[in-house]
Amino acid sequence: MSKIRAAITGVGGYVPDYILTNKELEKMVETTDEWITSRTGIKERRILKGENQGVSVMAIEAVKDLLAKTNTNPADIDLIIFATITADMTFPASANIVATAVGATNAFSYDMGAACSGFIYGLTTGASFIEAGRYKKVIVIGGDKMSAILDYTDRTTCIIFGDGAGCVLLEPTTEDVGVMDYMLRSDGSGETFLHMKAGGSRIPASHESVDKRLHYVYQEGSSVYKFAVTNMADVAAQVAERNQLNKENINWLVPHQANKRIIDATASRVGIAEEKVMMNIERYGNTTGGTIPLLLWDYEKKLKKGDNLLIAAFGGGFTWGAVYVKWAYDPK
Ligand code: UT7
Repeated sequence: MSKIRAAITGVGGYVPDYILTNKELEKMVETTDEWITSRTGIKERRILKGENQGVSVMAIEAVKDLLAKTNTNPADIDLIIFATITADMTFPASANIVATAVGATNAFSYDMGAACSGFIYGLTTGASFIEAGRYKKVIVIGGDKMSAILDYTDRTTCIIFGDGAGCVLLEPTTEDVGVMDYMLRSDGSGETFLHMKAGGSRIPASHESVDKRLHYVYQEGSSVYKFAVTNMADVAAQVAERNQLNKENINWLVPHQANKRIIDATASRVGIAEEKVMMNIERYGNTTGGTIPLLLWDYEKKLKKGDNLLIAAFGGGFTWGAVYVKWAYDPK
């Protein structure tokens, strides 16, 4: 019997309308368009505005886009995995909210917290359910409303992140396409350099935690940068090597969008030319769980059946990893 693989059979996405430019940030904190552009590659990011708007608002739109594009009946969805660190509430899972809102009444659903690597953790977990032969239609969402946990008086973090969500549909195939291989890693000592101090069970929300501004992203940028550059490139190179992937047969590098300099370092380590590197950091910034599905959403029309994609991510935890995907369909 031929092996069952999990093929990506569709992509959906959503970014909010509001565009926060570097020029506007210049009026909010002591920074310049020149500094942000040269140090990160970011020109603008999207922000979800309005009262009572959680990350699920964007995920619901992304999944509706996916269901419409793939002509999928939501009642046929078996499982929804939502990679996010900015869930609407601590509980219930935002995946439950999304599933009900889109009519996925027969699905079970849960959130996955692996920060910037969340989507690749979700993609490989979702693929395992398909490969096991247990489920036929799995949606993996990656998305974050980073603006909800950013301190807009802290120039070292508020310039980097944005809001957005993307998703893919996974279905079984016996063809030689889909999720082919992956390597995932984590290291809890990375907590020191990238975390949010309060709001969890260690320091629950209190007047004091709010006064001390503990409910925001805390990042020691240059330390995270050093770990990211080395580990993201290493894991991408390892997955490439063990699958005989090289600069000739890799069609696309799909790197987490944290910093253009980290992306360039990963591309150069694997020997990939710039035109084969997916990039949209200049328009969306770092949307954490959203970066990789939003790249697939933006580049979908350029992808052909059989294309070799090398996906790589690094983020809070630390978490990191790389996934080799063989694309399963031609542009529709
Ligand atoms: O996706 C999750 C994982 N996260 C990452 O992968 C992020 C990794 N880190 C980075 O991308 C970079 O470290 C940053 C973009 C966050 C910062 O860039 P950097 O080149 O590492 O700058 P730095 O933190 O070393 O700061 C250099 C200088 C400092 O000033 P002094 O001490 O040299 O006088 C900062 O205070 O730049 C200053 N600075 C700024 N200046 C203008 C920091 N932020 C800003 C700013 N505008 N927004």
